[in-house]
Amino acid sequence: MAPDILPVSLPDYAARARDLLDDNARAYFEGGAADEITLGANPRAWRDLALLPRVLRRVEGGSTACRLLGRAMDHPILLAPVAYHRLAHPDGEIATACAASAQGAGLILSTQSSISLEQVAAVVASDSGRGPLWFQLYLQHDAGFNRELVRRAEAAGYEALVLTVDAPCSGARDRERRSGFHLPPGIGAPNLAGLPPRPAGNGDRALFDTLLAGAPTWEDVEHLCASTHLPVVLKGILHPDDALEAQDRGVRGIIVSNHGGRTLDTAVTTAQALPPVADAVGGELCLLVDGGIRRGTDVLKALALGADAVLIGRPQIHGLAVAGAMGVAHVIRLLRDELEIAMALCGCATIDAIDGTVLAGADDWPAV
Ligand code: FNR
Ligand code: LAC
Repeated sequence: MAPDILPVSLPDYAARARDLLDDNARAYFEGGAADEITLGANPRAWRDLALLPRVLRRVEGGSTACRLLGRAMDHPILLAPVAYHRLAHPDGEIATACAASAQGAGLILSTQSSISLEQVAAVVASDSGRGPLWFQLYLQHDAGFNRELVRRAEAAGYEALVLTVDAPCSGARDRERRSGFHLPPGIGAPNLAGLPPRPAGNGDRALFDTLLAGAPTWEDVEHLCASTHLPVVLKGILHPDDALEAQDRGVRGIIVSNHGGRTLDTAVTTAQALPPVADAVGGELCLLVDGGIRRGTDVLKALALGADAVLIGRPQIHGLAVAGAMGVAHVIRLLRDELEIAMALCGCATIDAIDGTVLAGADDWPAV
């Protein structure tokens, strides 16, 4: 995309960011697992759903206002947890958080943020118009360290814990390995400073015997829910039975996600996985979805399939790489504006008015 043309959409930002990120950062942010089938299928699945709009309805006075975990929001867009923002811009997560706050978007800070959870919270926690501030938790192999991490997130003012459950190990990241991806000097994960080293593995079974020996289980989910006053949201659920199990274990919300195609390649798209999960727990649990959401019409479709809100992952990085905090803020605003346009053109004045009837052929979704 020509550098003198103002980006007017998330795809425009993606094109501009591709030219600006160095090879190392581009491999990390843009890549997915293995053949990147799921990575490519996620946005296509939203795009391929056809809308069946209604006309001549009154939409004046409409709005994108909604509620999430009992809290009011101006619109149903949150920033997904994405690690190492300083690979995209020196201001890193501080810029992203300021942008989210200015635009009333929720922010889910990654355990692997390149700026500490306390520093990020300190910048935005007292902003009155900000959206929800949640902390994404990757449970580590040390129980004491996990307890302390949760306590730190509580003390810093985070309002929910998002436990990511679809990445007990990294996916087969061919693109990263081909490019020799590495963290440059000075960029790391300060939230994990002081983590005791993982016990050494034994040879060819190191993945199962060492890394996965400490991987989270349903018992850990239950334990986490019991040990914090914050609501716990599970991120990375695709199967409706896992959603039901989560509900039984005390979880308050679910994020239907395949980690943006970065963990298990050929996993089902989130647009396909969402309806059965919504059937199982929609209305009972707070239900979010991410993966490939790039247009306001994608947001509308996600809500029509039963989500309460959506997350965007890579687009925030594209905005950050192009123009720091201003870029992230613009990305959020563009998506929100497109959602408003899509609502108006479908005859939906409010978020609650969006349901499956705006989708053509909503009754014959492919089975998961
Ligand atoms: C992620 N994601 C992620 N998820 C998580 O729970 N913790 C993390 O630290 C990260 N880190 C991360 C880094 C990068 C570079 C990407 C692209 C993604 C997954 C993320 O939260 C989200 O699920 C996807 O990014 C959503 O897909 P889209 O919007 O990027 O297509
Ligand atoms: C990733 C990890 C940090 O997707 O979740 O890169």
